[in-house]
Amino acid sequence: MLDTIYDRRSIRKYLDKPVDEKTLNEILKAGMYAPSAVNKQPWHFVVITDKGVMRDVKNLHPYASSLQTAPVAIMVCGDTKLEFAPNFYLTDCAAVTENILLAAKWLGLDTCWMGIYPWEKTMKDFSDYFKLPENIKPYSLIAVGYGAEAKSRPDRFDESKIHINKW
Ligand SMILES: Cc1cc2nc3c(=O)[nH]c(=O)nc-3n(C[C@H](O)[C@H](O)[C@H](O)COP(=O)(O)O)c2cc1C
Repeated sequence: MLDTIYDRRSIRKYLDKPVDEKTLNEILKAGMYAPSAVNKQPWHFVVITDKGVMRDVKNLHPYASSLQTAPVAIMVCGDTKLEFAPNFYLTDCAAVTENILLAAKWLGLDTCWMGIYPWEKTMKDFSDYFKLPENIKPYSLIAVGYGAEAKSRPDRFDESKIHINKW
């Protein structure tokens, strides 16, 4: 489990190899097992596999080079009608997104998290493109696929960031 966390990297080049439906559903299921405030589970997922939609979405996002080759993208959305209190969907959807990244890695896939929130223009562009209802807020976009590049584990342990009992 810890290797999965340490070895997950943002991968922006993917093999031309599809992700089977069972694996994809397992990844989405892992997203749905994320913790959420008062267990409201205020999320929805838009799964993108169509090449035309993928191209459009890539053009909507300023930093989505990974969608050039990714066979699948998952857009995680928050639901403001379901969230516990205003803006709780943001933290809940972050937990969902990370669960998806780690589950995918565990299953042998690679991912790249692309932020939609808090870019107001990008949020609006995605809402308009997908005709999202008013209460559904696009939060993150995740490229999913089999990586065509390898990245080594960086050393990120930093003792100076740890404060014991006082700042
Ligand atoms: C909130 C958030 C937004 C991000 N947005 C983008 C993005 O728009 N495009 C992209 O290629 N990577 C994006 N990333 C990935 C980061 O660049 C990456 O996580 C960071 O450089 C650390 O590298 P690692 O994921 O390989 O550990 C984002 C990551 C987070 C958490």
